[in-house]
Amino acid sequence: MIYKTFLRPVLDRLDSEAWHLNVKGLMHLCEFTGFTLRILEFAANGGPRIRDEKLAVRVGGVSFENPLIVGAGWDKTARALRALYSLGFAGVEVGSVLKRPQRGNPKPRQFMVTPDVCLNSLGLNSPGMEAVFQNLAWYGRLDMPVGINLGINSDVSHEDAPQAYAAVARKFRDNATYFSLNVSSPNTPGLRELQDREHLQTIIRAVKESLGGLLVDKPLFVKISPDLSTEQIDDIIRVVIDSGISGVIATNTTNSSSVKGKYGARWKGLSGGISGNDFEYKELSTSIISHIYSTTGGQVEIIGVGGVCDTDSALEKLRAGAKALQIVTGLRGEGLSVASSINKGLLRFMDRNGIKNLGEITGSYNK
Ligand SMILES: Cc1cc2nc3c(=O)[nH]c(=O)nc-3n(C[C@H](O)[C@H](O)[C@H](O)COP(=O)(O)O)c2cc1C
Repeated sequence: MIYKTFLRPVLDRLDSEAWHLNVKGLMHLCEFTGFTLRILEFAANGGPRIRDEKLAVRVGGVSFENPLIVGAGWDKTARALRALYSLGFAGVEVGSVLKRPQRGNPKPRQFMVTPDVCLNSLGLNSPGMEAVFQNLAWYGRLDMPVGINLGINSDVSHEDAPQAYAAVARKFRDNATYFSLNVSSPNTPGLRELQDREHLQTIIRAVKESLGGLLVDKPLFVKISPDLSTEQIDDIIRVVIDSGISGVIATNTTNSSSVKGKYGARWKGLSGGISGNDFEYKELSTSIISHIYSTTGGQVEIIGVGGVCDTDSALEKLRAGAKALQIVTGLRGEGLSVASSINKGLLRFMDRNGIKNLGEITGSYNK
């Protein structure tokens, strides 16, 4: 309430990317003492972070305390991991991480179209895998799963892509809990073509080889675009099942001009992907989750992402078939208490309806 009334209107006037980096920097500072981390935890949760077994989920063999994970893009550099955990998230997906440092597209490249809808054309900016590796090592042991989102530099050809993804996976094979394959960012020309069946098969094979038989312990997910046709999604489902990887993260940002166009000519003409609390975008990603869940009978594990910002939007994606959820733009739209308030809302919903675990909700629309 205080955030939305007083703070968010101020932030709306500032450069979105600069704000994001400043908040991340402040959160990292909080990590230097247990006391400051605790203050952050109490401020975001109104007390200690929620811990309740009813919220626990298991996806791709990874156990999460609750279903909420910080999605790729919020912490590309592994610089605020303990702080994000203290906000109430059960895990963080770091990245996208690229083999070599990359500046990304010219600024400005991240905009709040409305206070809770974002358009970004960052173009996979990354300090490169060595720097991210050092940052992650700084933490030592962490209490939560950390995923590494694998990306590639924009000058990598389709032919070299499998080895470029594999190099990052190899680097993190001992300290990532799971991996996700980013073949769906709209801001790297040609990247989304890697979602084609042949490309995807070759990339998955290379990443699996780089993990050298470790895959039982290191689950792999493919992160897909919401702008795919049903046939393309079905192709991906087949590849996921045939290759025996854990599942799908659905979805990345949308390029849809109809979603952008609603907000006026300025946004329609800008390149970049839309994320956050846009009704059409949320529906798009939820319908893809639903399609994957119903066509595979739940055989393919799904992490749902796209506009999760409150208990209702979280429930929608769980009911469609997601086992866990990711949030990026919601941290800006709702503020740092977003995970805490969703977790509390889910518990209230479960208590009201006599639901004992989240597995009872997952896929309930499609059973
Ligand atoms: C500023 C920003 C940067 C992002 N960077 C990445 C990225 O590097 N890799 C990736 O796979 N997804 C990236 N994403 C996509 C998010 O992980 C997520 O799929 C998308 O934003 C939808 O979730 P949301 O509505 O909760 O933001 C980014 C999103 C935003 C808003």
